Amino acid sequence: MGHGIAQVAAQVGKYEVNMRDVEQRFIDGGMSMIRDSLQRFVKKAQLSEAEMNAILARIHPMLGLKEAVSNADLIIEAIPENLELKKTTFKEVDGYAPPHAIIASNTSSVSITEMASATKRPEKVCGMHFFNPPQLMKLVEVIRGARTSDETVETVLNIAHKMEKETVVVKKDSPGFIVNRILIPALNEAVALHWEGVADKEDIDKAIKLGLNWPMGPLMLLDYIGLDTTLAIADVLTKELDPKFHPTTGLKQMVKAQMLGRKTGKGFYDWTQK
Ligand code: CAA
Repeated sequence: MGHGIAQVAAQVGKYEVNMRDVEQRFIDGGMSMIRDSLQRFVKKAQLSEAEMNAILARIHPMLGLKEAVSNADLIIEAIPENLELKKTTFKEVDGYAPPHAIIASNTSSVSITEMASATKRPEKVCGMHFFNPPQLMKLVEVIRGARTSDETVETVLNIAHKMEKETVVVKKDSPGFIVNRILIPALNEAVALHWEGVADKEDIDKAIKLGLNWPMGPLMLLDYIGLDTTLAIADVLTKELDPKFHPTTGLKQMVKAQMLGRKTGKGFYDWTQK
């Protein structure tokens, strides 16, 4: 999601954005998806070529973490859903970022409070959870950690509004926040229906699209989100909240088989041709 957030910040918020990743190929992939997305707006005459070029000029791709954060006012982390990795990264970012900078996380489920504890500025750490694709989805959940200050929450809400997002405030750092606490069990059950052979994948997706008016069915949505990401969220909900959230065998098997969805070309659907 990092490239999508970078794009919204540069395109709608008109911010200068340092977009950092750990390998050049990820940076290149992100920039290429940003270009594709901007082209879609240009095609529909919602952006001019000149505006597109100005947006691209505001995004500065880079590999160095120090270079990326040392003059930032807000850092939005969007790395894999792994607590130890997040804590290490937060500690490193805290060492390089200016004292006034806010460090926000796009995590779907990892504890904001725990990540904040890896820094010396827990009052300046909060959740800023976007939805995929960030270029189109209107919501940002702003999550308060145990020590997040009112000022940090206010600032992050203002920035999200400048990016033309609607916001909700999650007052307590509870696993899954609002959306994923409701979404993940639904996705998990869709996998169970498929795994048990109760219905074909197309019919499970059709039923929910037409029966509940979802824009896409749950199995296709799983392919978009990534089955590994969904499993990681289900694991956190199970461990931190209640055993009833436990991931189904089907979900675990597909992750073991690297059938992660769009990102590996194969999930419930075949993405190699798209
Ligand atoms: N950038 C710019 N434009 C884009 C785009 C992008 N990345 N992706 C799609 N579009 C545009 C298309 O060009 C198209 O434009 P026109 O209608 O003008 O031609 C329009 O958006 C619709 O796209 P599509 O026709 O390809 O497909 P769609 O009608 O199904 O819409 C969608 C795509 C908005 C993604 C829609 O399917 C949708 O809302 N799906 C559900 C997404 C969702 O639930 N996201 C939340 C996931 S959960 C999460 O993210 C949180 C978490 O922690 C797990």
